[in-house]
Amino acid sequence: MLAVAILAAGKGTRMKSCLPKVLQTLGSKTLIERVLETSKELKPDQIFVIVGHQGDLVKTKLSHMSGIKFVEQSPQIGTGHAIQQLLPILSEYKGDLLVLNADVPLLRIKTIEKLVANHRTHKADVTFLTARLKKPEGYGRVFANKENQVQTITEDRDCNEKEKENNLTNAGVYCFKWKSLKQILPKLSNKNEQKELYITDTIKMLTSARHVEVSESEEVSGINNREQLALCESILQERLRSYWMKKGVTFIDKNSCTISDSCVFGTDVEIEPQTHFRGKCKIGNDCKIGPGTLIKDSVIGNNVKVTFSVIESAEVGNSVEIGPFAHLRPEAFIADKCRIGNFVEIKKSLIGEETKINHLSYIGDSKLGKKVNIGAGTITANFDGKNKNQTIIGNDSKTGANSVLIAPIELGAGVTVGAGSTLTKNVPDYSLAIGRTKQFIKPNWTKRD
Ligand code: UD1
Ligand code: MG
Repeated sequence: MLAVAILAAGKGTRMKSCLPKVLQTLGSKTLIERVLETSKELKPDQIFVIVGHQGDLVKTKLSHMSGIKFVEQSPQIGTGHAIQQLLPILSEYKGDLLVLNADVPLLRIKTIEKLVANHRTHKADVTFLTARLKKPEGYGRVFANKENQVQTITEDRDCNEKEKENNLTNAGVYCFKWKSLKQILPKLSNKNEQKELYITDTIKMLTSARHVEVSESEEVSGINNREQLALCESILQERLRSYWMKKGVTFIDKNSCTISDSCVFGTDVEIEPQTHFRGKCKIGNDCKIGPGTLIKDSVIGNNVKVTFSVIESAEVGNSVEIGPFAHLRPEAFIADKCRIGNFVEIKKSLIGEETKINHLSYIGDSKLGKKVNIGAGTITANFDGKNKNQTIIGNDSKTGANSVLIAPIELGAGVTVGAGSTLTKNVPDYSLAIGRTKQFIKPNWTKRD
């Protein structure tokens, strides 16, 4: 039997933020979400999240996740005190309790499984993860023998100079035999520099305490300040890029690109420098994305080329060319073989197959058919000051340069709009529409003498 308790009640003073620390984001997820997702993969019998500082905010942020029991810790007077809150809830519980710090977000499921297996093999009272760090400052120091039996953990701020030289550190990931832990939890004292009840003090009070050293120390990096947050972000990005490179994605300058862990890439995707993928994105095969591109929550088909552009909450078909300097905004749907060019903004519009919008246009709340050619500087004037109105353009129609289509308006199929027109009325199929003042010529205007 396995229960998981995630410690998430602390304020995170060193973060210097209005947000509770566990709601800081790493990639596209909060720290607590990451630890929760890993915990869920273990399929434990129950998961407790200990909340305290701005607990309601933490609960609200996690409302999309099921199967969590929230436990309140108030006041927040230490990690040991946080676990004491489980005493009345788990009074009859007989299994193991896995305790995870919510500020250790890069921990891998395999490492936790190894910890639990090791704990059970040795029938220990507690087994926890340790790491040898080049810079152990801030971490609790672990004093153990060669057989991995631990005598004690001393917090950094309670260590003397000699003890600080020990670089075996506590990762904040513990597997306890609950039956043993519950006996000693009430006996914790706050005789330390912070005057808090430390979970780490339980180690010296338990008969059999063991540690398992992780092979990759970066996996157990804790986040207490912005420097550590940035460090974990770069570790996460390296993990993600390396995963996708193994699946057939090329990065021209990998360190200048970031991706979120909810992105999926096809094969033979080439990512040029300074390109970023945020939120949930799906990119097809044979795409060339970047340089200088941001894609957020969007679906991109196969064989798509995007250069110096921004795409957010949009969908792009196959064999489309976008950019340079295009902006696809929410609900832009671009069908196959379209060309969206320089300085074009598209919002909430359906663009039919093989349609070209090549230069300097705004298309909003519109429905364009197939093989439409939108001339340079064409604007759909969709907002009348109160409402957003729709523009419809039929197949094979063309607009001349600098056309303004004042919505609501419908242009039929095969329509031609003369350059510089401002149209306010619908245009029937196959017609020419011109709406501009006639040209006026005054001869010899500049020859006054
Ligand atoms: C803790 C460990 C330290 C270890 C390090 C690993 C203790 C006393 N020290 O130190 O040995 O090397 O983690 O990263 O445990 N929390 C609560 N309630 C509280 C206080 C904290 O739930 O009253 C939560 C925090 O929200 C956080 C976690 O416990 O998620 C750890 O607290 P933190 O203050 O970050 O401990 P560290 O100083 O990092
Ligand atoms: Mg910490």
